Amino acid sequence: MIPINIIVAIDAQRGIGKNGSLPWELAGDIKHFRETTSKPRSPKKRNVVVMGRKTWDSIPQEYRPLANRMNIVLTRNRRLSLPEGVLKAENFDKVLQMAKSEQLKNVIETIFVIGGQQIYEEAIKCPECEKLYVTHIHKDFECDTFFPPFQDAFQSTAVSDPVNESGIAYHFEEYARKNK
Ligand SMILES: NC(=O)c1ccc[n+]([C@@H]2O[C@H](COP(=O)([O-])OP(=O)(O)OC[C@H]3O[C@@H](n4cnc5c(N)ncnc54)[C@H](OP(=O)(O)O)[C@@H]3O)[C@@H](O)[C@H]2O)c1
Repeated sequence: MIPINIIVAIDAQRGIGKNGSLPWELAGDIKHFRETTSKPRSPKKRNVVVMGRKTWDSIPQEYRPLANRMNIVLTRNRRLSLPEGVLKAENFDKVLQMAKSEQLKNVIETIFVIGGQQIYEEAIKCPECEKLYVTHIHKDFECDTFFPPFQDAFQSTAVSDPVNESGIAYHFEEYARKNK
């Protein structure tokens, strides 16, 4: 099975977004996101990024599709038109089918769920989703979208040193799903 991981940046109240975009600008976190999602360990494989339509809309045109990754956008809108090469999925089961596909395991290394709130809520409930890459921002922002509570079901496995950028402290932490 192709691993399904989540990557997210959260503030101290698990806030992730405001008015359709990120509430903060942290170049170090963008770099971490790019490196984590776009560099498979095997040079013969690619990673997949799965996002909700609103998150797709939030990416500036010049940066999308996200380079060096297969982009999948979840939408229920059959008429939504996306650039060539960007895939559309009408439900999360399609992503799970992809993860279980024997054919794809030789070309896809990891499926990263990259948000936003609606997609995180669905992904985190799936037992197939085993690992979280969380950027913890040590501050409260005004947010209208949130990451679901996760610390009952996941345990910390790696913690970075804190980073300070423009007066905002944050750190990177990895979590694995607890064994039942
Ligand atoms: N901090 C972070 O790491 C981070 C990461 C990503 C995003 N964000 C932020 O999160 C916010 C967006 O989150 P959001 O919850 O409003 O939107 P979202 O999850 O990005 O997208 C929601 C849309 O996805 C589609 N969708 C949702 N569930 C689906 C399903 N089961 N099957 C098929 N399609 C489905 C629908 O699209 P249609 O309406 O087209 O049907 C829905 O309107 C933004 O502020 C963004 O900046 C933050």
